[in-house]
This record gives sequence, C-alpha cells and structure tokens, in this order.
Amino acid sequence: MNQVDYLRISLIDRCNFRCQYCMPEGEELNYILRQEFLTDTELLALLEEVFIPLGFTRFRLTGGEPLLRPGVVRLVKEIASLRQTKDLSMTTNGFLLAPIAQELYEAGLRRINISLDSLEPDTFKAITGRQGRQSWEKVWNGLQVAYKVGFNPLKINVVVIPGVNDSEVLDLAALTIDKQWHVRFIEFMPIGNSLLFSDRGWIASEELRDRIRRKWGLTESQVIGNGPADVFKIPGAKGTLGFISQMSECFCDRCNRMRLSADGWLRPCLLNEAGQLDLKTDLRNGVSPAKLREQVRKLLLIKPEINFKQRDNGNQTGVYNRTMSQIGG
Ligand code: GTP
Ligand code: 5AD
Ligand code: SF4
Repeated sequence: MNQVDYLRISLIDRCNFRCQYCMPEGEELNYILRQEFLTDTELLALLEEVFIPLGFTRFRLTGGEPLLRPGVVRLVKEIASLRQTKDLSMTTNGFLLAPIAQELYEAGLRRINISLDSLEPDTFKAITGRQGRQSWEKVWNGLQVAYKVGFNPLKINVVVIPGVNDSEVLDLAALTIDKQWHVRFIEFMPIGNSLLFSDRGWIASEELRDRIRRKWGLTESQVIGNGPADVFKIPGAKGTLGFISQMSECFCDRCNRMRLSADGWLRPCLLNEAGQLDLKTDLRNGVSPAKLREQVRKLLLIKPEINFKQRDNGNQTGVYNRTMSQIGG
C-alpha cells in the first residue's frame, strides 16, 4: 500500500478567476460561510495533533485561490516552521503573486505551481473570465518574480482544452527550453462545475507527447515533487514537461494524498467523496486528538478501496458534489 503522507489543504473556496473548467461565471456557488472556515489555530492543531502524528509531512496549500486567504503569509510561516514539515508548496493562479512572492519565500514556502493555460491574452480571458492582457500580464509577472525570488521547482499548470488552447502546446512546451520552468499539461477532468465544459472532451497526454516528440524529441526525466505527473524533457532543455493523465492513464494506484477542505472536511479522493470526515465539527465539539487520529487512521486503511479507479473500475463516473475550487484540485 502507498504511504499517504501528503495533505492538500484548501485555504479558501473563493477565487478571483472564473476558469471555465472550475467555477464558471454566473454559476451559483455555495460558498462556505465565514464561520465554517477552519481558523489558523484549528488548522495548525489538526496538523500538529492529527496529521503529523499519522506520518503526514508534505503539505500543499490550495484554494480556490490560496492568496485570497487573509493572513496567508503568517500561516505559511507557521506551517513551514513545524519541525516535521518536509515539503510545503502552493498552487495559485498567480494573479496576486508578484507583490507577495518574496514574503512567501521568506516565510518558508519553496515550491509554487502556477496555473497558466494560455500565452494569448484573449484565450486566457476566454478561459479565466478575466480582462485579457492586463490580467495575463499580472500572472506572467507573478511567474517571473517567483522565478527571480528563487522558487524552485517552479511549475506551470496547463489544463488542455480541445479547440481552446491545445494549439499552444508547443509554445508552452518551448518555455522549458531556456528557463528552469516545469510545464505540466493536465488532462481536463469532468468534475463539479466543469461538467458544464466537458462536452469539449479532453486530449490524451500521449497525443501531446507525440506532437512535442515530432518537433524536438522527448526523453524521460526525473520526477520533482509529490504529484501524479509523468515527467519528460526536451533534449537539452533546462526545465521539464509533466503530464497529468487522470483520464487516459488513471494514477489512483499510486495515490499518496488526502485533501482537507477550507471548512475542515477530510476527503480521501479528489474524485470520490465516500468516507469523508467532518473534522472541524468534531474538533469544535471537543472530540479528543486521539479519537480524531483514530478516525483518520481508519480512513487511511480503507482509502485504497475509495480511490476513484478501484471504486469505479475506471468508468470515470465519480461523485462530484463539490467543485474543484472547493476541493482544491
Ligand atoms: P507536485 O507534483 O508536488 O508539485 O504537486 P501536484 O502536481 O500534485 O499539484 P497541483 O496542485 O499543481 O496539481 C496539478 C494537477 O493535478 C491538478 O489538476 C490537480 O487537480 C491534479 N491532481 C492532483 N492530485 C490529484 C489526485 O489525487 N487525483 C487526480 N485525479 N488529480 C490530481
Ligand atoms: N480538470 C483538470 N484540472 C483542473 N484544475 C482545475 N479544474 C480542473 C479540471 N476540471 C487545475 C487547475 C490548477 C489545479 C489546482 O487544478 O488548473 O492548476
Ligand atoms: Fe480559480 Fe483555480 Fe478554479 Fe481557476 S482553477 S477558477 S484559478 S480555483
């Protein structure tokens, strides 16, 4: 059985973008009420008294957009300074990153994954729902500043949507040639609100690799990080190319993570919510850390059966009551 030692922590379900595949404009969203959010103190208590004793040492902060969480730098500092934290990372849309990148680095964050689906401001606008060039430039600047500040590895997440941005795959791949940037192509997953967008389908990573191979060639490379990407390299490039292929090559067998939502639900699988635990309510009701650990330990034991593929025989019909922005990707 895989060791599950990686917790993805959603800090907030709000986002300043409206990505078509995640939380499209105009969709009625059931935002989590303020009082339902885990406070910093509650989150740290769960980490120190429940997750770390159970062997979790790698934490990724996600959203919605994690930089919208008030006091995010302070929280990063607290988590980074826990003795057992081996790896602390963040996934962000990059819009608010430039002015805060240095502070985040100083607080102890070392790895950032930035979502950037297009190099064309108009396409960027069509996907994210944000004003074209100005917003795109803010994200681009966020990337450059994060690179200068020293975030390493610096990853760029690209959700590939047929007919929208797949024509840019070679341009995006080319970003890895001169800079130590790591571009990851993600097969679009039909989850939550993104069901609305799913009639466009998805493109298998192998097809993208073929396109890249034909232009430059492609060799296998070393995995940097804890995620599900298969990693390759354009020969001689400084950075790498990752492929996250949930749809064509389900990777549930090697799943090493759980997810904590901003309102304190522990979810064993991105695509399946069976078995989830309401840790915040238990914590607020005074359930002891030992009892909480016991519940989580039980969930860890049954996680392999809950993992999407095993439960579903790979039929790609998950339980999608929550949106990607609520689960944190
Ligand atoms: P590192 O490799 O450690 O940098 O992290 P990561 O790739 O896991 O993190 P990131 O937040 O950048 O996720 C990239 C993509 O992988 C997103 O589209 C996620 O939704 C997807 N992803 C991450 N974990 C899982 C998972 O457990 N199951 C599935 N199906 N997709 C996942
Ligand atoms: N399919 C694949 N990836 C998605 N993300 C958000 N929604 C989807 C989806 N439906 C990605 C974002 C971000 C990461 C956290 O999840 O682009 O990089
Ligand atoms: Fe926001 Fe990320 Fe969802 Fe886009 S994918 S709407 S950036 S949470």
